[in-house]
Amino acid sequence: MGIAKEVVQHPEDLIPLAKLVVASKKIKMQLPAEPHWGFAYSMLQNVSRSFALVIQQLGPELRNAVCVFYLVLRALDTVEDDTSIPVDIKVPILLGFHEHIYDRDWHFSCGTNAYKVLMDKFHFVAVAFLELSKSHQEAIEDITMRMGAGMAKFICKEVETVAEYNEYCHYVAGLVGLGLSKLFHASRLERLAPDSLSNSMGLFLQKTNIIRDYLEDINEIPKSRMFWPRHIWSKYANKLEDLKHEENSLKAVQCLNDMVTDALAHVQDCLEYLSDLKDPAIFRFCAIPQIMAIGTLALCYNNAEVFRGVVKMRRGKK
Ligand SMILES: *[C@@H]1O[C@H](CO)[C@@H](O)[C@H](O)[C@H]1NC(C)=O
Repeated sequence: MGIAKEVVQHPEDLIPLAKLVVASKKIKMQLPAEPHWGFAYSMLQNVSRSFALVIQQLGPELRNAVCVFYLVLRALDTVEDDTSIPVDIKVPILLGFHEHIYDRDWHFSCGTNAYKVLMDKFHFVAVAFLELSKSHQEAIEDITMRMGAGMAKFICKEVETVAEYNEYCHYVAGLVGLGLSKLFHASRLERLAPDSLSNSMGLFLQKTNIIRDYLEDINEIPKSRMFWPRHIWSKYANKLEDLKHEENSLKAVQCLNDMVTDALAHVQDCLEYLSDLKDPAIFRFCAIPQIMAIGTLALCYNNAEVFRGVVKMRRGKK
């Protein structure tokens, strides 16, 4: 195993990797002229600036597939997140989403801000999807179907055990890892990675965000769902909200460290996944978010600030 062992034995090698993160932010983006592709890349910038930057690492064919994949999943996410949609309306949309992407006329209005625009102009995403190769379309369809079914299963369900936490993260993020591996393979640029490693790539990023965003999520109005598993936080507090109060600082940090330790269990798989990649552009695309996540977790560990404000890495900071 190439870089996994190397990074452990020579942690200073993380610095050139961190430089990639900085370099990627300097790349200028041009929007394609066709309206659907122009919409897709402009929307990508509006819903995730950082993803819009890393995606520029990829060659044009794979980049288009990954862009559409991301927008389809964000649209699915918008449906899942919109608490104003009654469950009996929401569930069939989640379950049927993988069919709607083939339909230029399908439309469902929900969400807010950029996500509302994404939903209202979803036909552009469908048109872009239909221009992808068959193998890319099939990979996106399969993952969209499985994610929609997983979201439907977890609707109105609290995350209790660590096994449920892993299962939920599998649906919303592990499947993204599986899908990307399928897209890389369909482009004939990589061997197909084992599902367990692809899953870990997604779980590590998702768990890092769930940890970092504790305060933002707990203070959200209307109340957003929380994904810290009860079996972890109940060792430290009676209610998850109690962790944000100053007087519970000690217990809160112990709980945080428990959560970080759980997330770190995925790092070995992530390094193994990265060390098996052959294509340098795909390597950069995959490595940048993982390096950012490792840095974010290092910043969160033992840090009571997670319960006071947003802990974010500054640009160019190691
Ligand atoms: C993205 O945001 C910019 C700036 O607010 C806006 O001009 C543009 O229309 C948005 N793109 C899409 C596809 O909505």
